[in-house]
Amino acid sequence: MRQLGVLFVCLGNICRSPTAQGVMERKLADAGLSARVRVDSAGTAAYHLGKSPDSRSSEVAAARGYRLDHLRARRVSREDFETFDYVLALDRQNLEDLQRLAPEEAPGRPQLLLDFAGGGAIDEVPDPYYGGPKGFERVLDLIEAGCTGLLSEIRRRLDE
Ligand code: 4NP
Repeated sequence: MRQLGVLFVCLGNICRSPTAQGVMERKLADAGLSARVRVDSAGTAAYHLGKSPDSRSSEVAAARGYRLDHLRARRVSREDFETFDYVLALDRQNLEDLQRLAPEEAPGRPQLLLDFAGGGAIDEVPDPYYGGPKGFERVLDLIEAGCTGLLSEIRRRLDE
């Protein structure tokens, strides 16, 4: 049976991309598709290697039923583009960094998560790290919209 891989990438891999991983894992589990899709997350920077997600992200996620506590930060690598079908940047700077890192012929082409969110005016998930609690709620709203669209895309790909 066909399996797909999805990698979410932000800067530190402690706020936005682990949130996206937790949301997507839940959506796939609810859809009965966990065995068909491998989900992971990584950061473009190495500031927080091995760390658990930021407690502000874990708390807003937990309040909506998403678990992040099994996740640990790691840095994105060139090999990731060989093993993941989707390499999804949370913001435009992450996308630029990924485009620089991606091997030319690798299957996983970088794109923005919010390209799947259904045509809203906002195409990136802003970095919440130095802001207040509202920023973390906003991050989760945007990620939920992106992951809902991504789930439709994945269903289509799995049916091909
Ligand atoms: P993330 O947020 O990229 O969503 O994980 C950040 C985490 C840490 C830092 C910046 C953004 N930092 O500068 O340490």
